[in-house]
Amino acid sequence: MTSAASGSVATEDGKFAREKFSSRNVFVFAAIGSAVGLGNIWRFPYVAFENGGGAFLVPYVVALLTAGIPLLFFDYSIGHRFRASAPLAFRRLNRKLEPIGWFQVLVSVIIAVYYAAIIGWAAWYAYFSLDQRFGSSLEETTSFFTGDFLQMSEESFSFDFVGNITVMIAIVWIGTIIVLALGVQKGIGRLNQFFIPLLIILFVIMVIFALVQDGAMDGLNQFFTPDWSVLTNYQVWIAAYGQIFFSLSVGFGIMITYSSYLNRKTNLTSSGLVVAFSNSAFEVLAGIGVFAGIGFLVHAGGMAWDDVQGGVGLAFFTFPALIASMPAGEVFGFLFFACLVLAGFTSMISIVEVVIAAVRDKLNINRVNGTLLVCVPLAIISLLLMPTAT
Ligand code: PHE
Repeated sequence: MTSAASGSVATEDGKFAREKFSSRNVFVFAAIGSAVGLGNIWRFPYVAFENGGGAFLVPYVVALLTAGIPLLFFDYSIGHRFRASAPLAFRRLNRKLEPIGWFQVLVSVIIAVYYAAIIGWAAWYAYFSLDQRFGSSLEETTSFFTGDFLQMSEESFSFDFVGNITVMIAIVWIGTIIVLALGVQKGIGRLNQFFIPLLIILFVIMVIFALVQDGAMDGLNQFFTPDWSVLTNYQVWIAAYGQIFFSLSVGFGIMITYSSYLNRKTNLTSSGLVVAFSNSAFEVLAGIGVFAGIGFLVHAGGMAWDDVQGGVGLAFFTFPALIASMPAGEVFGFLFFACLVLAGFTSMISIVEVVIAAVRDKLNINRVNGTLLVCVPLAIISLLLMPTAT
């Protein structure tokens, strides 16, 4: 790679040459890294369960085929053809459309701020899984999270713990800055080439671990048993489209940005299909793992099927309770939270890159300056908002 293509040295006309992924496979890893995130692990299983179980797969596949894949290709072709960040690519398509790109940048900023915090929380919980200080009943794990960990109730407010969360969020941001300052290939490309295979291996081990527990099959029955009556409920269809957008990271400027780093000649059709189906496969696998785990906890008397939650509640209340009652729960817990960190971090990188690419295209500054200009203020906002807020 020439120094101009690394984004650090301007060419003679004062512009920075567009950086590149070294191959199409690296791009595919990066795109999967962006798509596979918290949404796959803690959102999909719950959304599917709440919206008809096995029957949810019908609106889900329809949403994938009618919106997910077409929009993925739309993003790819805009980025690939106009070879620019979202605002500039839309501007090149039509001057009036530039604000759409900036709107996507704004949304990415908001997602990045809270994603960083959740990755930091998950990293602490990977560690807590080892000694299970979060307690064992759902009541204990819930009050540990809001009380001891986040210090949300004012009487017990002490800075010790919040201080630790702050340190972890700072570490997440420092990691983000290092990867993004290294650039498209050396930073984003290499990170994903290493993290995505690792994530898949760890995740498969975790799912197998969950499947061999007592009660796992009840969990799968709960998860897959179809309630066909939901097909006439429009809210279920909205949930399916919402899940697909978020999960595939389409419409956020990410795929535009990543595909702008490809060689002109690259064929994108097969890459798009690989990304879309890998993401959905990961999602269904997560549903199996999560519901096998919940099936075990219900079997062990730790919770009822009516108490199933998604999001923060699933990861930080239900899973700790499950980890505490499972044989060799330390290993299972560590794997689960490590997977959240890996999946979350590769998505986080893609979200922040949307912002950096947009700012660099606008101001014509080098990669390191662009990274610092974007990440330092965002890190400060994350640090100020996140430790105590929910
Ligand atoms: N697709 C990611 C997930 O499933 C989340 C994400 C959304 C990432 C939007 C970037 C932009 O968790």
